[in-house]
Amino acid sequence: MAKIGIFYGSTSGTTEEIAEKIHEELGEDVCDLYNMEEDFDDVDYLLKYDYLLLGCSTWGAGEFQNDWRDPLFDMECEQPDLSGKTIALFGPGDCTGHGKHFVGALGILHDVLKSLGATIVGAVSTEDYSFEQSTAIRNGKFVGLPLDNVNESDKTDQRIADWLELLKTDFPVLAS
Ligand SMILES: Cc1cc2nc3c(=O)[nH]c(=O)nc-3n(C[C@H](O)[C@H](O)[C@H](O)COP(=O)(O)O)c2cc1C
Repeated sequence: MAKIGIFYGSTSGTTEEIAEKIHEELGEDVCDLYNMEEDFDDVDYLLKYDYLLLGCSTWGAGEFQNDWRDPLFDMECEQPDLSGKTIALFGPGDCTGHGKHFVGALGILHDVLKSLGATIVGAVSTEDYSFEQSTAIRNGKFVGLPLDNVNESDKTDQRIADWLELLKTDFPVLAS
């Protein structure tokens, strides 16, 4: 069954820790793990997979983590056809210190990937989160899985477990 590609960008190691946790949880037979900084040269790496989990933290004021800059730019220039790709997004932020721009990066990735035809799955209810504003909300839900290891690290494991359970509907390899 089709393997999942997990790609992540991480500045201070939090998204990396989360991506490694997901990779470990799912197992090597089910998914491959790529650090965008070290293991990624070209958008073709992403295109090899029909099922993707993409991790990106938020920096600046609602901006995406730096390792996503070139891939997003290349995708906007090259306009690869992502129809047929099923993508779920995850990323840490800080709902207190940066509560006006909470996990904004997820919204940016969502809009670029969706505009290229990808099916974005794994939307999460805002109910369990306290924040002022977020540009990562569409139709009343976060477009992916927000995590906050600055203020709520105790919730991270359960949030990941619940999310992976939710993804079983759209990722056949997780249901088998
Ligand atoms: C200078 C700075 C700016 C940040 N901006 C945001 C932001 O706009 N929104 C947010 O939710 N989190 C923001 N954060 C929090 C980071 O996203 C959070 O610490 C995250 O865990 C970092 O993940 P990484 O180490 O994988 O890059 C910011 C943190 C710093 C230090």
